[in-house]
Amino acid sequence: MKVLLLYSSKDGQTKKIATYISGQLSTTVTCKIQKLSPTTEIDLEQYQQIMIGASVRYGHFSPVLNTFIRRHVEQLNHIPGAFFAVNLTARKLEKRSPQTNSYVRKFLSSTPWQPRLSAVFAGALCYPRYGWFDRIMIQLIMHMTGGETDASKEVEYTDWQQVNDFAKAFSLISNGK
Ligand SMILES: Cc1cc2nc3c(=O)[nH]c(=O)nc-3n(C[C@H](O)[C@H](O)[C@H](O)COP(=O)(O)O)c2cc1C
Repeated sequence: MKVLLLYSSKDGQTKKIATYISGQLSTTVTCKIQKLSPTTEIDLEQYQQIMIGASVRYGHFSPVLNTFIRRHVEQLNHIPGAFFAVNLTARKLEKRSPQTNSYVRKFLSSTPWQPRLSAVFAGALCYPRYGWFDRIMIQLIMHMTGGETDASKEVEYTDWQQVNDFAKAFSLISNGK
């Protein structure tokens, strides 16, 4: 069985999560992992399962996500699929489900794609790697929401057990379980 894992990532955390999931899945299936780009051309016919992961910046997923979905929606809806989102709002446990995370709730209610499974993972804070504008904006948001404001810090909030459980649940959906 062949599985396709696509991701959209700016600072690398979604890529890290996708790579981890790919590693978990690769023990039982052939898993191809690829970054989504505006020119991503893929023959979806050869895959029996698909997963797409994307991070949030300034309230939005990258436009490449919707471009890809709209271009391939018919095929996507014929392949058992899963979606995961990565953002910092999800560092708070009560915002870490598709129903309680507003980015994911809005995405799922507006996308024509119907993934069978979805999840939200807490991302990472990487102040030293941000440009000055992003650093100040994120500091401001963290200040307003009670998060880390020390600009010398990198903090990973991702719950790897949650990621692991999601990978396991994904491996069951092709069986209709
Ligand atoms: C410029 C910038 C804007 C962000 N905007 C949001 C946001 O609107 N909501 C949110 O919950 N997280 C936001 N985040 C946090 C990211 O989603 C988080 O850092 C995630 O791990 C990034 O994933 P990536 O490394 O795969 O791009 C933002 C981060 C940056 C650097």
